[in-house]
Amino acid sequence: MFEGAPLQAADKAGQYSELAVQARGLLHGERDRIANAANFAALVYHALPDLNWAGFYFFDGDELVVGPFQGRPACVRIALGKGVCGTAAAQRQTQVVADVDAFPGHIPCDSASRSEIVVPLFDGDRLIGVWDVDSPKLARFDADDRAGMERLAGIFVESMRAA
Ligand code: SME
Repeated sequence: MFEGAPLQAADKAGQYSELAVQARGLLHGERDRIANAANFAALVYHALPDLNWAGFYFFDGDELVVGPFQGRPACVRIALGKGVCGTAAAQRQTQVVADVDAFPGHIPCDSASRSEIVVPLFDGDRLIGVWDVDSPKLARFDADDRAGMERLAGIFVESMRAA
């Protein structure tokens, strides 16, 4: 299996396991944050169905600043506690939003987005940023996506540590 190969598993958990193998292979031997974030976003965006945005916001010590992503151009800066991204970072918890219009303070970047998942990224206690994925479908993300995205995000964080 090569990185970017179509996923074979019929179920989400199996698909995320395949993606985890591909992500490890893709990031192996490279620690550069921009390089790994760009390839990681491209891998996930093209592998999973019904996504319209997948990418990173990195914490600059003050707020979240957009990083490598796939999808339409996005808002650049998000304050901690604001929007789905800022909420995930401030609360240190993955946010799974079934209907972005029902999320108070949701920051619309692509008007096509209907649901969203945001995983906060930490190196120990230190906030690195967030991994943000949007879908044009309502309630696109469930508990399997949460577990899968958290696992994938962990592989990204680990890639910057590995020698
Ligand atoms: N919707 C996000 C903003 C980022 S875009 O989805 C790419 C939020 O509310 O934080």
